[in-house]
Amino acid sequence: MKILCVVGARPNFVKISPIIKELKKHKKIETLLVHTGQHYEYNLSKSFFEDLNINDPNIFLDIHGGSHGEQTGKTLIEFEKVLLKEKPNLVIVVGDVNSTLACALASKKLGIKIAHIEAGLRSFNWNMPEEINRVIVDRISDYLFITEREAVKNLRKEGLENNVFFVGNIMIDSIHNNLDKIKRSDILKRLDIKPKEYILFTTHRPENVDSLKNLKKIVSIILALHKEYKIVLPLHPRTKKNLEIYDLFDSLIKDSIILVPPIRYVDFIKLEMDSLCVLTDSGGIQEETTFLGIPCLTLREETERPITVTEGTNKIVGLDYDKIISEIKNLKLVKKRKVPELWDGRTAERIVDIIRK
Ligand code: UD1
Repeated sequence: MKILCVVGARPNFVKISPIIKELKKHKKIETLLVHTGQHYEYNLSKSFFEDLNINDPNIFLDIHGGSHGEQTGKTLIEFEKVLLKEKPNLVIVVGDVNSTLACALASKKLGIKIAHIEAGLRSFNWNMPEEINRVIVDRISDYLFITEREAVKNLRKEGLENNVFFVGNIMIDSIHNNLDKIKRSDILKRLDIKPKEYILFTTHRPENVDSLKNLKKIVSIILALHKEYKIVLPLHPRTKKNLEIYDLFDSLIKDSIILVPPIRYVDFIKLEMDSLCVLTDSGGIQEETTFLGIPCLTLREETERPITVTEGTNKIVGLDYDKIISEIKNLKLVKKRKVPELWDGRTAERIVDIIRK
């Protein structure tokens, strides 16, 4: 059996690493890794391969930048060539980025089976490029591997009842697999900060950082918080570019604001673990903080990962300044919540068992 695994952007690397590790245990499975190139900088790509012990990709498409259509279209064209040459029995795609959509479409058009890991999540916000990607990829996938039970309902409403497998959360496998390294990380020392004295702040969603109005709100939230707390602020290239374009970057240069480039995997999880709380618009970070028991305030109007709110440590706060300040003041009241069902580090094992049958 020949399986082609696809990655493109930062969160994909975290999700594919445990799958490749598990697939390699089975001699009869030949596994190839394709990197589309969507994320290409060392900090967003290669450093993740190093931390997560993923071998260099077998095939690198080197497609990045451009509009969504251009990126998706070019990836579809190039990935189709890979499929025609390699003739895999199955393509595994993860998450909801443009590479996920492009590679799933190319596979389906050639009649090749697709497994989608992290299926069934819905924000119901069609302004998010990821929502479009999720819905389409699920519709054409042959295996739908889900992280939480709510996803079953979402898929059922779209007429997708078959081949839905509740396997748990693959991102948590990566934390389990790398826990020793994470604990040994000296990132706090390097940033000269102590556990629980800082807030970890990440933002990169187009709706937050492409709009001047929202980016200004974000900057004013950071500027209010930095008077009382240290803020660790890793800057995604999109965020950095827009802060510069809108002339907001210099206002963030303060002693208590630790501005850093994107942080590699092991160091980032360590920073999450030891933070007072995390403010983010990322999807995966909502899940990791729930697993780690760290309070998370999500700078969006909704989440496609509702279990992080109902069972985990996540609160949806949007860019509501008053709500954010009041939540942070009441942090001590946030109890350590439940780790969701099957977020146990054995998701890859369950997925590979199902694929082998
Ligand atoms: C993508 C995903 C998003 C995910 C995020 C994680 C889509 C639609 N979005 O968003 O779901 O949460 O990755 O980071 O797929 N760039 C660099 N260096 C890089 C990579 C990108 O400078 O290594 C630049 C690109 O040229 C582009 C911008 O950053 O101008 C955005 O990159 P892109 O991959 O299109 O989307 P992200 O915002 O990273």
